[in-house]
Amino acid sequence: MHPELSIFTSGSTHKIRVGVLGSGKGSNLVALAEAARLPKCPYEIVVVGSDVENAGILHRAADFGITPVYLPPGRYRTKLEPEAEQHAARVLREAGVEVVALAGFMRILKNDFLGAFAGRVINIHPSLLPAFPGLQAWKQALDYGAKVAGCTVHFVDQGIDTGAIIMQMAVPIEDTDTETTLHARIQDAERIIYPEALRLLTLGQIEMQGRLCRHAVAKG
Ligand code: GAR
Repeated sequence: MHPELSIFTSGSTHKIRVGVLGSGKGSNLVALAEAARLPKCPYEIVVVGSDVENAGILHRAADFGITPVYLPPGRYRTKLEPEAEQHAARVLREAGVEVVALAGFMRILKNDFLGAFAGRVINIHPSLLPAFPGLQAWKQALDYGAKVAGCTVHFVDQGIDTGAIIMQMAVPIEDTDTETTLHARIQDAERIIYPEALRLLTLGQIEMQGRLCRHAVAKG
């Protein structure tokens, strides 16, 4: 196991410091931040970054008293420039971030960032992976004619939505669904499983064997 993953297994005595990155309106951030306010929550959100200057997620962060930071992405459309990745990693490190939670961050992260937080970046994706990786997964599911959709919390690795799966929740696809209604139903599920996955992870209750993640059975 990577030594840095020990923060997930040893049972921390402090609240794990989480940084959230997103590009959108921030409904997942709100769910994570509301859960963080509950007594005994094992994590706190210390910084929120976005590649979109006026993104809703930055405003939601401020609503919760969390530092919002605009992270200029550079000249690419789908990823950060290497200097921008290094800058983002530096900003999070300086805030003491131990775990990074992507919440609608619409750029692929490469090694300058993933190397800085090896094994400690997680993501929420709006499909039941490995089905429908990539963009607008709810639209992909509708167009495919799938009858069940859902969402996945997973570790981020070098691939696109290929990392080890931590938690999933399924939702039905109704015949009457539009992209909007299906995405809304998936997002309702996201707001349930993302805080719960982060809670179990930061409590040290997720056991990892290779790419298999299991809810650890309490000992003693
Ligand atoms: C969420 O539905 C999330 O699953 C999706 O972006 C939305 C962000 O919403 N992420 C992806 O599609 C990543 N591939 P939010 O800003 O309201 O949390």
